Amino acid sequence: LIDSLLLLFLFYRLNHTLNRTPRHSNPPIIPKPILKSKSSTTPSTIPQPTITSYNPLENFTPCLHPSCTTHSLPTHLGPTFHLPQPPYNLTRKPALCPHHASQDLKYANADCKQEWEKMRQGAGRKTMGEVARDFDAYLGIVRRIRDEEARALERRLRERVLGVGNRGQGHGERGKAYDWKYTPRPCTRKGCKRELYSPFDAHFYDFYCRSQEFGIRAMETLCPHCAWADVSRLLDDAECKRQEMEASEWEGWIEHVKMDRQQQKHFWEKAQERVVREKGVGFNITEGKRKKNGEKIEIQGKGVDTMREVCVVM
Ligand SMILES: *[C@@H]1O[C@H](CO)[C@@H](O)[C@H](O)[C@H]1NC(C)=O
Ligand SMILES: *[C@@H]1O[C@H](CO)[C@@H](O)[C@H](O)[C@H]1NC(C)=O
Repeated sequence: LIDSLLLLFLFYRLNHTLNRTPRHSNPPIIPKPILKSKSSTTPSTIPQPTITSYNPLENFTPCLHPSCTTHSLPTHLGPTFHLPQPPYNLTRKPALCPHHASQDLKYANADCKQEWEKMRQGAGRKTMGEVARDFDAYLGIVRRIRDEEARALERRLRERVLGVGNRGQGHGERGKAYDWKYTPRPCTRKGCKRELYSPFDAHFYDFYCRSQEFGIRAMETLCPHCAWADVSRLLDDAECKRQEMEASEWEGWIEHVKMDRQQQKHFWEKAQERVVREKGVGFNITEGKRKKNGEKIEIQGKGVDTMREVCVVM
């Protein structure tokens, strides 16, 4: 009886939550759907997704420092970030996060300073003017090398994020360095027909990457709209469970939920990866649901269902 009552209650809550905005006083930012509508379209038509115009390079990109996992938005770095910096007019390299770009510049400046000291001390009969000229020549070489390295980094970023490099750019051919995650992907919620999205989209990155209450994160494998519905419902459920349960029991429950979501994420990411790799940028979602090689590439949302199951089981 208790089970069926609980089920009824949850069912009620679910319907209830679906039809209203979450009641949290301090909700996570509400992701606005990406409606890059053409201003000329009549108001009655639903704007068509223009995801093909999405450029991953203009959104959050990974830092290419070997041990770094952060992402940054190039346009957030400010207009002077990549200009020559005093004292030696060296520039920060692109495709690195602010921390690693500045660290790299600091080391380069320290090397130059050391070289200057060495030149000065080993000057022998040279005048200060001659030493200064030598040092200028040295700086010129350093700048040329760094420019070369900067171009290489930019190339690597393009290979990683877009899958294209300076070599053969044949359609559908991606290099080994390509990471599908930066390519717009379809939502994994069953029946969701919204446009392709990217968790690295400048508009949504914060929403996907920032932990919400109880350390819960939005599902990267759902589009902003579905992820928002999913996380709101989960926060509501978590709040209600917290009032019902003993503190330690609740902590166990929330840990279980988080682990479960992590597993779901891995599972659905694989499905998304397959679709993205097979279809490439800007593929048509309806086509993605077609049978291919006798095998159905259908991806569907699981997050919500599993949450419900978890609730019912508890
Ligand atoms: C850096 O650039 C400024 C302006 O172009 C110049 O005045 C200065 O001498 C340069 N410094 C070095 C170390 O090259
Ligand atoms: C997707 O494909 C279907 C059928 O192939 C087509 O009717 C529809 O216009 C396409 N949508 C877009 C956005 O290209």
